Amino acid sequence: MERPLSLDDRIRVFAEGRTYSVARFCPHAGNDLADTGELLPGRILRCLAHRYEFSLDSGRCLNGTGMDLDVELIGMGLDAEPSHRIDRPEDQQGTL
Ligand code: FES
Repeated sequence: MERPLSLDDRIRVFAEGRTYSVARFCPHAGNDLADTGELLPGRILRCLAHRYEFSLDSGRCLNGTGMDLDVELIGMGLDAEPSHRIDRPEDQQGTL
């Protein structure tokens, strides 16, 4: 039985002046992107478990097929933080 999605299933990603809400678990094999996610230039999120890479702008997997990532742009420009980082849901406390 599938568990319903909750805010705990999303991470917040800050990359190149944009802020994204991203599905926390990798669409490939379900690893926690809060632990295995790595940001690359070009607003790309790499899952270090098996090194699949995802465009934060489209969610599309850039080196595989059939496993796009659920991403949503939630801030840019003055609304976005300038740092590059991945926040866990527990770091976001009522701000998502
Ligand atoms: S679980 Fe993320 S690439 Fe395999």
